[in-house]
Amino acid sequence: MDTFSFKRHRRLRSSESLRALVTETTLTINDFIYPLFIVEGEKVKNEVSSMPGVFQISLDFLEEELNELESLGIRAVILFGVPNDKDEIGTGAYIEEGIVQQATKVIKQSHPHMLVIADTCLCEYTSHGHCGVVHEEDVHNDESLKLLAKTAVSQAEAGADIIAPSNMMDGFVVVIRQALDEAGFTHIPIMSYAVKYASAFYGPFRDAADSTPQFGDRRTYQMDPANRREALKEAQTDIEEGADFLIVKPALSYLDIVREVKDHTNIPIVAYNVSGEYAMIKAAAQNGWIDEQSLVLEMFTSMKRAGADLILTYYAKDVATWLQKN
Ligand code: PBG
Repeated sequence: MDTFSFKRHRRLRSSESLRALVTETTLTINDFIYPLFIVEGEKVKNEVSSMPGVFQISLDFLEEELNELESLGIRAVILFGVPNDKDEIGTGAYIEEGIVQQATKVIKQSHPHMLVIADTCLCEYTSHGHCGVVHEEDVHNDESLKLLAKTAVSQAEAGADIIAPSNMMDGFVVVIRQALDEAGFTHIPIMSYAVKYASAFYGPFRDAADSTPQFGDRRTYQMDPANRREALKEAQTDIEEGADFLIVKPALSYLDIVREVKDHTNIPIVAYNVSGEYAMIKAAAQNGWIDEQSLVLEMFTSMKRAGADLILTYYAKDVATWLQKN
């Protein structure tokens, strides 16, 4: 046999140490952001039925939760509010005593080093469940922008470290940037949900955040899953408007988009491993059909390999535990 006629790739795979030496992608807990759902009321800790292991918690459980996160080495959370009262214009999103504003204050007081990322959207606060102001079943872009800017400023006033607008109105980055700057928050970064598809993968989140639209869907503002070039257009626009991070969402079925955005931009990319992705894996794991730890770590490695700098996931605590163990 002429052994010079082929390459021996297995040479670099022969031991654990050698494989570690040549690995191209590694996970560290610094890559992960953990979502929290904060509800009004006292002593509430509700497990979300479609997301086992994920809870809606009230303010009095926050400190305990944050202690756990800190001990796991998690340094960033993103907050979603679940208010008791909703109205047509999402007032709960931008009042001083809003649930996210209160939670932010509690966290920054007890855990000043924890980065608080505020999700800036109206859908959890509006009675119709849409992400903006609605007129005759149409989500009004420019009117919604005013309320989003107000929401962002109130979140920054409460102490949020990063503003993450997720509503997909055109112009949201520039309007929020301007409002933050005028209010003296020039130092607060914007993590834009720049590339957000109208996805069936968000189903369980809408149970967790109680934000299912009461009529229609989000296809007039979120992107068509069929489109690739449009993702670049959205990403480029948001960078021009002043975004400091770009989110691509969902992640798992959209790793081609993560790579594309990474190759055409130069700011940190966040992959959002959304609720439906979490729910699918949990269900399979609970049935004993897959090895959860191996599969989840492989999935996040793939996201980083595709170009994600950061990963936003309900699995962050498990990942922290597994990384500590390994
Ligand atoms: C709010 C928002 C949604 C998600 C994050 N922010 C829901 C939506 O757009 O319908 C989904 C997150 C997930 O599914 O994990 N606009």
